[in-house]
Amino acid sequence: MKKKLEALNCLYPMPTVLVGTVVNGRPNFTTIAHVGIMNVGKQNYISISSWKGHYSNIGIKEKGMFSINIPSEDMVEETDYCGIFSGKDTDKSTIFEIFYGEMKAAPMISQALINMECKLYKTIDFPAHDLFIGEIIETYCDEKVLTDNAVDLSKVKPVLFDMHRKQYWKLGEPLAKCWDIGRGLKKGDMQNH
Ligand SMILES: Cc1cc2nc3c(=O)[nH]c(=O)nc-3n(C[C@H](O)[C@H](O)[C@H](O)COP(=O)(O)O)c2cc1C
Repeated sequence: MKKKLEALNCLYPMPTVLVGTVVNGRPNFTTIAHVGIMNVGKQNYISISSWKGHYSNIGIKEKGMFSINIPSEDMVEETDYCGIFSGKDTDKSTIFEIFYGEMKAAPMISQALINMECKLYKTIDFPAHDLFIGEIIETYCDEKVLTDNAVDLSKVKPVLFDMHRKQYWKLGEPLAKCWDIGRGLKKGDMQNH
């Protein structure tokens, strides 16, 4: 028996990220979990859905830049802090060690094992949120999270977000190989299913 949940968005867990901006000349970091991946290929884009009242939005619109920093499990406290307090009345510029890329307008977090420097590509004006789509212009990755030159999530240990239970989760075990496990279901090979 299915119960209707009134169009509730159930697309969780989502990876939690820290978005870096410069607002009124000061670095600011805010926690965002409503992120999206788009146009994977040579030009890569990321979207973030940020409530219009957030301090960060001012900086993204003014500078046309932002960074996406991926916190690990050991940064969960700082991650939550950046999602509780607003840069409007709290200086969040000193929580992390910061570095900049070429553009100098998107502060990035040294402790975060992966950072993506993004140039604002488009803003979609939703009633309550700005959907910022950024083109990734550079990605910085701590060498220690690479296995055979690919980012290894078991080393990144991302912080997963569940809006419904207001809970952070951690990654479990790998399940199966993509573009591989499904091959066994091909017509004619299905006798065992
Ligand atoms: C785990 C977590 C995830 C969040 N995800 C989002 C989100 O996706 N979009 C959003 O607008 N706010 C989100 N927030 C709320 C903002 O991070 C929070 O209101 C923050 O204080 C805004 O900071 P700012 O005003 O300095 O930009 C989230 C908060 C937490 C704790």
